[in-house]
Amino acid sequence: MPLDDTTDASAPPAPEPTDQITDEAGQEWWRSAVIYQVYPRSFADSDGDGVGDLPGVTSRLDALADLGVDAVWLSPFYRSPQADAGYDVADYLDVDPLFGTLDDFDALRARASELGLRIIVDLVPNHTSSAHAWFQEALAAGPGSEERSRYLFREGRGPGGDEPPNNWPSVFGGPAWTRITEADGTPGQWYLHLFDSSQPDLDWSNAWVRDSFLDVLRTWLDRGVDGFRVDVAHGLVKADGLPDHELPLGGGSMGGGQGGTGTPPWWGQEGVHDIWRSWHEVVSSYPGDRILVAEAWVDPPERLADWVRPDEMQQAFNFAYLETGWDAAAIRTVVEDSLRVFSSVGAPSTWVLSNHDVVRHASRLALVGEHPQGWGIGPRSEGLPNPELGLARARAASAVMLALPGSAYLYQGEELGLPEAIDLPDDSRRDPTWFRTGGERYGRDGCRVPIPWESGSPAFGFSPSGASWLPQPDDWSTYARDEQQGVASSTLELYKAALRLRREHDLGTGTLTWLDGFADDVVAFRVGAVTVVANTGEGIVELPVGEVVLSTMAVDGPALPPTATVWLVDAA
Ligand code: NOJ
Ligand code: MG
Repeated sequence: MPLDDTTDASAPPAPEPTDQITDEAGQEWWRSAVIYQVYPRSFADSDGDGVGDLPGVTSRLDALADLGVDAVWLSPFYRSPQADAGYDVADYLDVDPLFGTLDDFDALRARASELGLRIIVDLVPNHTSSAHAWFQEALAAGPGSEERSRYLFREGRGPGGDEPPNNWPSVFGGPAWTRITEADGTPGQWYLHLFDSSQPDLDWSNAWVRDSFLDVLRTWLDRGVDGFRVDVAHGLVKADGLPDHELPLGGGSMGGGQGGTGTPPWWGQEGVHDIWRSWHEVVSSYPGDRILVAEAWVDPPERLADWVRPDEMQQAFNFAYLETGWDAAAIRTVVEDSLRVFSSVGAPSTWVLSNHDVVRHASRLALVGEHPQGWGIGPRSEGLPNPELGLARARAASAVMLALPGSAYLYQGEELGLPEAIDLPDDSRRDPTWFRTGGERYGRDGCRVPIPWESGSPAFGFSPSGASWLPQPDDWSTYARDEQQGVASSTLELYKAALRLRREHDLGTGTLTWLDGFADDVVAFRVGAVTVVANTGEGIVELPVGEVVLSTMAVDGPALPPTATVWLVDAA
């Protein structure tokens, strides 16, 4: 066993699968599921330290059941120095005290099960934290050791090895290499880190690394998780020889785009698929339709389909959809392409508009100009959004997304219509991107601000002490869940209604048909008994006959105003 056996002997037996649909081939729960991303630091804080935690999540799960989602994906809560908000893992098998204990995880899992919610955890295999025992052992063991071979240590180039081994950039800015000092005090080898210098990349050509992660998978599957969201699932394998690459403009990005040439030698290498096949074997050996979800920023969509071939992962995030603006032609194209490409390998399409790495879509959809993923926005950014327009577009875009066949991902707070927190004080920022670029890129803190629950409570109900690890904008009381609960026109009630109707009409497993006869700036389609009409233009759109069952803006008779979406069903 490559790992210490730290599995808690008192871990509960894996729970029986709940309401698994087994009677119809191809209709496993995840094919149509709505999965809600909880970012534990910012969801609910139980102990008043200003950082959300697992007991906080458990205490608020009822709200997610009430919203009507099927599953919850938890961003990392493992032991970690939190240099990248937990995506720098120091122990894959334990909960960081900041978030609670393994018992707290079991309690969360148990409560979710009672509420019929599945739990997906986030696994970060591309890199560990530099505080991980494996990396510390590698530093101590010295060049040429087995311990170093678990990471990507190389000699530097140039006189004295003073230059990095190649020209690769870190996604967070600056070079992807850091030089260490050897035990004898001399300048030593360099190690690769596609992200922060505190996140050394593992060497996935090493069998020990591969075996170790299969053990990690089994440990969490034994603990009853329903699946894994797999971080940077396009990055684990690097091209042989770690060759230089003609650099993308402005440095790294999750997809390597922005002007670079060809696929960077650190993304989307063919060898990653062997890893997913071995993971598939482990995950599918457990009962209950458990899943692997790829975070893979690759394009075109045809390539992404490789991640979800029948013997690999079940789902991959559809970032092409996320990156599509509020533009009818572009929406039609990406929906059409996604359905075609994913179904060509028997996988459901996924749909996503927000997550913890992108500007919240209630702001993003009204941004003007180019704003690359991960760079974020702040008070000095150009083309800042009009908040009313952003919210209107977000509501209309979400109402399109939630009618689409396949599986949809929600990011905590989008159901409240939360915008990006743009005016965060510089000295409150925590994203390594901000530090590695000397403040040139704001990074992702603006989408990670703790969410509001009750307008009149300290930290809007996020924390009993009123503390909040990132400051909450004063006007967020208006977005608080209790202000929206039961208010028909609220974004919360819009999401609840959409999820209820989606379930009632089996939209997630339906077939989409485009509707003709509308102007180019209208997205119109039908899934089952539901007709969806979205107006991205400036004019009024005449609606077809039918009963309006959902609308993102007040609709007057058969006239759909600009920046709005409606769902209609045939009048009884
Ligand atoms: C993708 C995660 O979503 C992001 O938050 C993180 O910084 C990087 N991977 C590195 O783990
Ligand atoms: Mg806390």
